[in-house]
Amino acid sequence: MTTNKLLLKVEKAGIRFGGLQAVSDVNLELKQGELVGLIGPNGAGKTTFFNLLTGVYVPTEGSIELDGDKLNGLAPFKITRKGISRTFQNIRLFGELSVLDNVKVAYHSRAKHSILSSIFRLPHHFSGEKEMEEQAIEFLKIFKLEGFLHEKAKNLPYGQQRRLEIARALAANPKLLLLDEPAAGMNPQETHELMNLISFIRERFSLTVLLIEHDMLLVMGVCERIYVLDHGQLIAQGTPQEIRNNPKVIEAYLGEEVS
Ligand SMILES: Nc1ncnc2c1ncn2[C@@H]1O[C@H](COP(=O)(O)OP(=O)(O)OP(=O)(O)O)[C@@H](O)[C@H]1O
Ligand SMILES: [Mg+2]
Repeated sequence: MTTNKLLLKVEKAGIRFGGLQAVSDVNLELKQGELVGLIGPNGAGKTTFFNLLTGVYVPTEGSIELDGDKLNGLAPFKITRKGISRTFQNIRLFGELSVLDNVKVAYHSRAKHSILSSIFRLPHHFSGEKEMEEQAIEFLKIFKLEGFLHEKAKNLPYGQQRRLEIARALAANPKLLLLDEPAAGMNPQETHELMNLISFIRERFSLTVLLIEHDMLLVMGVCERIYVLDHGQLIAQGTPQEIRNNPKVIEAYLGEEVS
């Protein structure tokens, strides 16, 4: 459920790579519990923006705050501990590890707040390997992966690898989940199921979600608000209806599909 509490506050954030201003002057706010889309043409700076939020890159301008804590300059693992987890545009799993171990690895970077522990009625710190494993299996059940626990991640079909990445991101106990094109390469049926799954986990785990996606049907279908980046700058924000009818957005996507 969306609340009025501000979770993420990004002010005038930007980064320059040599001569390229990849992200410029971005102001973005997420309230706790919101599911918000981030769209824009190829090369618009969407993934780079996630890299700024997660500490892969340090912003050259502006500030980023989560729950009132400044994140600029923090190492990625510290940002994960503060409660931001992500998936990657190009899937990054430990291919040689089992499905189960891919999720268990994430427990080492768990954020120390209690949303998930209270839902599962578990202590903050797992007393043993067994509890950790039981909870990892709970996550995998949500993503219908419990039948593949001991399969190597690299042997899963593509759509299931994408779901496993989300399960792993959840195991880090995030407040804010960043999904970078989670439906890429999925067929319409898988995309539809994923859409429902994203809505479900957001409610179930009281998550705030920022979703990068090229599939307009998915974005417009699940997001309450949408931000649009083009050439590193925000050109629009609003409800799906407002975005669909925004002339700047239509122009930025000229030649691409906006439906
Ligand atoms: N480490 C880097 N060094 C130099 N340029 C970079 C770097 N990372 C990204 N860029 C450039 O920044 C721009 C934005 O790239 P980014 O990957 O963020 O776009 P995107 O919106 O995610 O695109 P896509 O929809 O294709 O994934 C591009 O011009 C890209 O080449
Ligand atoms: Mg990208």
